[in-house]
Parts: sequence; C-alpha cells; structure tokens
Amino acid sequence: MKELDGKVAVITGAGSGIGAALAAACAVEGMRVVAADVDAAGLETVVAGIASAGGEAVSQHTDVRSRDALEVLAERAWGTFGGCHLLCNNAGVMVNKPLLELEEADWRWILDVNLMGVVHGIGAFVPRMKAQGGEAHVVNTASMAGLSAFAAMGLGAYTASKFAVVSLSEVLAQELAETDIGVSVLCPGAVVTRIHESDRVRPTDLEDAAPSSLSADANPESVPGAQTAEETAQVVLRGVRENRLHLITHPEMKGVVEMRHRAILEAFDSAAADR
Ligand SMILES: NC(=O)c1ccc[n+]([C@@H]2O[C@H](COP(=O)([O-])OP(=O)(O)OC[C@H]3O[C@@H](n4cnc5c(N)ncnc54)[C@H](O)[C@@H]3O)[C@@H](O)[C@H]2O)c1
Repeated sequence: MKELDGKVAVITGAGSGIGAALAAACAVEGMRVVAADVDAAGLETVVAGIASAGGEAVSQHTDVRSRDALEVLAERAWGTFGGCHLLCNNAGVMVNKPLLELEEADWRWILDVNLMGVVHGIGAFVPRMKAQGGEAHVVNTASMAGLSAFAAMGLGAYTASKFAVVSLSEVLAQELAETDIGVSVLCPGAVVTRIHESDRVRPTDLEDAAPSSLSADANPESVPGAQTAEETAQVVLRGVRENRLHLITHPEMKGVVEMRHRAILEAFDSAAADR
C-alpha cells in the first residue's frame, strides 16, 4: 500500500513502545489512527500527543485476548473513520522463565495475547477489509525470537508464541495473495520499550504464582544495538509501502537465523545419507 495519507490505521498495543511509535508515525503520514490497548493511561498520552502534533486519533480500550473486543474495535474503526486500511496486530507480553518453570497461567497469558490476539485481529478485521475493497495491509508483530529459538532469558513460551505468529503470517500472505491486502510480519531484535515490564498488565486471574529463577536482565535497553521504537516504526512503514513480508530491524542478526536454518538443512542431508 503505497499511499498512506488519508487512510485509517488500527494499532493494538498502542499505549506503549512500538505500538505508540507506530501510532505517531502513522499520524505523521496523514493517517487517522485508532489506538487500542488495555492501558488506558498509555492510550490517553498517545492520542493527546498525536492531537497536539495536528494529527487525528481516537482510543479504544481493547483486550486482544477477546475476539468480541476485536469486533468492537473494528466497529469503532468503521463507525468513526469509515474503515481500516492498516491493521497492526502488535500487542504483546513477555515472560522470562525456563520451560520447566512455566506454569499453565504463564502459557495461557502469553499465548492468548501474543498468538490469539493476532488470530482475533485477523478474524475481526480481514473480512471487513476485503468487503471494503481497495488496498489494505496487515502487520503482525512477531520477533527475532519468531525466526530463531532463544533459550537465553527464559524466552521459551515467548519464542513459541512468536514462531506461531511468523508461520500464520506467512500462510495469511499466501491466502491473500490474489487480493489487494498485503501482509507483513515484523521481526524486531531488541527495541527500547517496556516489554520487560509486561507484568504491569498481567490479568489478576493469571497471576504469576512462582517467580522465575533467572536473574537475567530482560530490559532490551541493555542489549547492544537496541533500537528506538521510532526507528522500528519506520521499518514498518517502509515494509507496508513496499509490501515486504518479513520486516527485519536488525540485519546484523542474520547469522543467528542462518545457523538455525543450516541445522535444519543438515538434518535433511543426514536423512538423505541414511537412506
Ligand atoms: N521491545 C522489544 O525488544 C521487542 C522485540 C521483538 C518483538 N517485540 C514485540 O513488539 C510488540 C510491542 O511490544 P513493546 O516492545 O512495544 O512492549 P511494550 O510493553 O512497551 O508495549 C506493549 C503494549 O501491549 C499492551 N498489551 C499487553 N497485553 C495486552 C492485551 N491483552 N490487550 C491489548 N494490549 C495489551 C501493553 O499494555 C503495552 O501497551 C510485542 O508484540 C512484542 O512482543 C518487542
């Protein structure tokens, strides 16, 4: 989708970090923005910031774990701005525990937000975007942890959720190939945000009963080469304009992905040699 000016963007997880930066960047491009999050105060700040810069944005309290909430969000977008041309399924949370320490509540929370949030966004919006006609684009936020398995920092559940987002985005791109709806999957390396403080929005019914044994610092700011959320937002907008499927923020991490894929290809070679 080359032309963004005058179009409508709906962004989940827009109350902080990458989503907030995306909302601001879309508004700068002349898009009208529907900012969605469970963080009401964060949303208020983001919408006020866009308005004071001369842009147009509204907020909608949305828990992406609920399909009904995504339907309400879609109704808000169509009711307020008459449609949606850019859907960013971006809300996400992180848990830092080794696999054997993860409880069902950890899994439930991370999969319901990181994976089912994207599933619900696609389910509620894409049929409406198809019916609306014309160019549109879906961006699903995964992670570099969706392209390579990181045991460090107890990212097992997070990694599983992000691999799922990458694969479902690749399938969605194929399924929508004959339409005017493009699909991208954002795979950032470290970005300076509040992702390491995800517990601030953890639902009380899924509380963390047993804290992680890990003492690793999960703050992305401490990772060398961490970029700003504003830089990440620009990678997204370029990817939308150029209809790129995989959006990479840290090209220097190519070797990590190569290593994983090489190991898989070598397994094929071993299987062939075993025949
Ligand atoms: N920061 C990084 O280094 C990094 C790297 C790769 C991928 N990501 C991904 O980027 C996305 C954005 O995260 P961020 O880094 O900006 O973190 P962040 O914590 O600053 O922002 C995430 C936002 O999602 C919201 N959210 C959480 N649960 C929600 C729910 N149930 N419904 C609606 N909103 C909810 C939070 O309130 C918050 O505003 C996430 O999907 C994350 O996994 C981040």
